[in-house]
Amino acid sequence: MRVYCIECGKEYGLMDRVYTCRSCGGLLDIEYDYEAVKEVVPSVWLKRSMGVWRYLELLPVLNPSLRVSMGEGGTRLVHCRRLGKMLNLRHLYVKDEGGNPTGSFKDRGMTIGVTKALELGVRNLICASTGNTSSSLAAYSARAGLNCIVLIPSGKIALGKLAQALIYGAKVLAVKGGFDEALRIVRELSAKPDFYLLNSLNPYRLEGQKTGSFEIYEQLGGRPPDWLIIPVGNAGNISAYWKGFKELTLLGLTDLRPKMVGVQARGANPLVKAFRKHKDLTPLDQVETVATAIRIGNPVNWRKAIRAVEESGGLLDDVDDEDIIKAQRLLAKTEGLFVEPAGAVPIAYLMKHREDGLIDVDDVVVCVATGNGLKDPDIAIRFSEKPKEVEPNTECVLEELRRIGVV
Ligand code: F0G
Repeated sequence: MRVYCIECGKEYGLMDRVYTCRSCGGLLDIEYDYEAVKEVVPSVWLKRSMGVWRYLELLPVLNPSLRVSMGEGGTRLVHCRRLGKMLNLRHLYVKDEGGNPTGSFKDRGMTIGVTKALELGVRNLICASTGNTSSSLAAYSARAGLNCIVLIPSGKIALGKLAQALIYGAKVLAVKGGFDEALRIVRELSAKPDFYLLNSLNPYRLEGQKTGSFEIYEQLGGRPPDWLIIPVGNAGNISAYWKGFKELTLLGLTDLRPKMVGVQARGANPLVKAFRKHKDLTPLDQVETVATAIRIGNPVNWRKAIRAVEESGGLLDDVDDEDIIKAQRLLAKTEGLFVEPAGAVPIAYLMKHREDGLIDVDDVVVCVATGNGLKDPDIAIRFSEKPKEVEPNTECVLEELRRIGVV
């Protein structure tokens, strides 16, 4: 197992507290001895229950007895037959990451990142967050008995996420600015030994997140999908998923790899712009979207994400807020899946682009629903019809039901 810079190749030790390359500033990645891992997988995996830690041989943990876990991963892969019919897709699946302990995919990364913090012997864990990272870090820090400090964009995070960070006992600071400014401050602070950074720049965290790919492969009966559609904010998760799918081929478990489709909100789409122009990323100062989880103008993992999309033959695209809300509501109404706005972004992409002819009716399509709908009750209520008040008597209720045409 080795930690290395994806730009210049410089190597680091597994006990080094490093987030980006000290020589060139490049992003870091982790590589395993795949020939050795091949000897024992998948048989050792099959003996363990579903979840992140099932894949221990491909996790960067030196001392698994320190594990800080709450049963993360092992989320449902839901075959969406009714929605699939509407979108003319026979094999449409949603990976329901809202089923994680704090309601988002971040828990997959935090179980590894916080275990790493214990290995390193650090005490103060810090992150900037649009909401879910802070909920997750706050919970895992609480469970590990470590201090948690989170910086959030003031007034711009969903109510449920704020409630989580507060109740788990994190020190929450609301920065008068956006996520990108909060992350800049957190990066500066974590250059000091007092703070350990747990944003997705932390290479250990992404190792936990890649297990979503392993699960999808297993849940589809030992094959990856043809398409993996995923929302993009700071661009860590799409990079992690792609790494997971690549590792399955390195282990000889499959020859297939999905095409990766990364989707941003139109009001926060710097990666889509860079992809279209074949240029380096130009950060956006002003970003706005109803999907506050991905309200990000300067995604730190953009180089990894562009590589993932290009290597896979996929694409990056954006959807507007109106489509995100429509998709969120349609997924809930047709499949009983209540996801937060960012989690509905892949469905919004399909609703818009199904006619493009890119995806075949028989292709296997997996949309990653990254967060639970209860995280953001305000949005769900704002776009719903308000309940009608009625007198406490059966005749009045029946009369109202007749009036709205139910009976
Ligand atoms: N979906 C949800 C629900 C998220 O919370 C995030 C990111 C993403 C998608 C995008 O993932 O950043 O890896 O591309 N939320 C971060 C946070 C930024 O602070 O909670 P990404």
